Amino acid sequence: EKGGWPSFMAKEITEQPEAIANTVRGRIVGGTADGDGAADAAGGARVEIPELTELGDDTLRNIDRIVIIACGTASYAGQIGAYAIEQWARVPVEVQLSHEFRYRDPVLDERTAVISVSQSGETMDTLMAVKYAKDRGALSVSVCNTQSATIPRESDAAVYTHAGPEVAVASTKAFTAQIAALYLIGLHLGRVRGTLSDADAAAAIRAFDALPSAMAEAVETHEQIAQLAHWMADTRSVLFLGRHVGYPAALEGALKLKEIAYIHAEGFAAGELKHGPIALIDHGQPVFVLVPSPRKAPVMHSKVVSNIQEIRARGARVIAIVEKGDTAVLPYADDVIRLPLTDALFEPLVQVVPLQWFALELSTAKGLDVDQPRNLAKSVTVE
Ligand code: M6R
Repeated sequence: EKGGWPSFMAKEITEQPEAIANTVRGRIVGGTADGDGAADAAGGARVEIPELTELGDDTLRNIDRIVIIACGTASYAGQIGAYAIEQWARVPVEVQLSHEFRYRDPVLDERTAVISVSQSGETMDTLMAVKYAKDRGALSVSVCNTQSATIPRESDAAVYTHAGPEVAVASTKAFTAQIAALYLIGLHLGRVRGTLSDADAAAAIRAFDALPSAMAEAVETHEQIAQLAHWMADTRSVLFLGRHVGYPAALEGALKLKEIAYIHAEGFAAGELKHGPIALIDHGQPVFVLVPSPRKAPVMHSKVVSNIQEIRARGARVIAIVEKGDTAVLPYADDVIRLPLTDALFEPLVQVVPLQWFALELSTAKGLDVDQPRNLAKSVTVE
């Protein structure tokens, strides 16, 4: 049942191109080129999620604030989704951990949409937060990977990710599928609310179309990452840096490593370095840096290259994750992991894949149980 892989996690990492394709299928409609509609965005394809259409366009136009609630990896998917939803739907979006949300007396009314994100659909903290929001009149939308789980049943609408069953405790394919689902929600809302330009819609639809093959290429970094993990088996601490959507992706890279390799790891917003974390940089400190595309995000790219120079000058061992063809970082990086081109907002979906492999390989190098890490359960059904 592991499909020839030594762990479920390895299998699930490799299933991501398919998980994304399945999550998107049937939600990009009306194109002229093929049945899926994705190939020819200019030919009239649009994102339409039937479960949101059922809520009524007036309901969606009435939303003046979105709160995304989730825990763990799902909360990082939420943080990434927030950038895209704000950009496309022009609604303020905040992301809160479910267990913090409930106890802060949040401001909620019928114009607030609460989007919960949960692979299992059974996480007690998230379920309680959904119920709390519902009781206060908010609209609740669930992004969930498990059909008919409690959270989607308690919600006004359920937008399922179709990643297939995820067995490993460390979430991988559910994470990228959650990002895809949140992006689809952002595109649907942007279209209905009239805030999404045709050019942005077409670019996003083209990016979705190209994503499965880009992710398949990212999966192929496995061998390179395995070698990297091999020499790093004794590492005691690893840092991850990113900007914009790369920041929550860095947090996710760090969480994976803590969960299954039991290594101290932290993710930082690269811009925050000089406000404190740069003091941690010492000779040989490994730092993964998620470098934005120089073509699609030139300003972010140059800022991250400066951050790399700053940490390199203080002795960091830099592992740069870059877009293929980006040579700006070469003089300052010890290792370079090259990924295919994607749109700026879509980068975390490919950049996270080598980080998932890294955690898996380090866990394996330490002789640990990749799928069943100590102290953790797949689904946290107690508060
Ligand atoms: O089932 P959920 O998505 O609600 O679970 C949320 C977290 O418990 C989960 O993402 C956890 O952080 C994973 N072990 C991450 O790999």
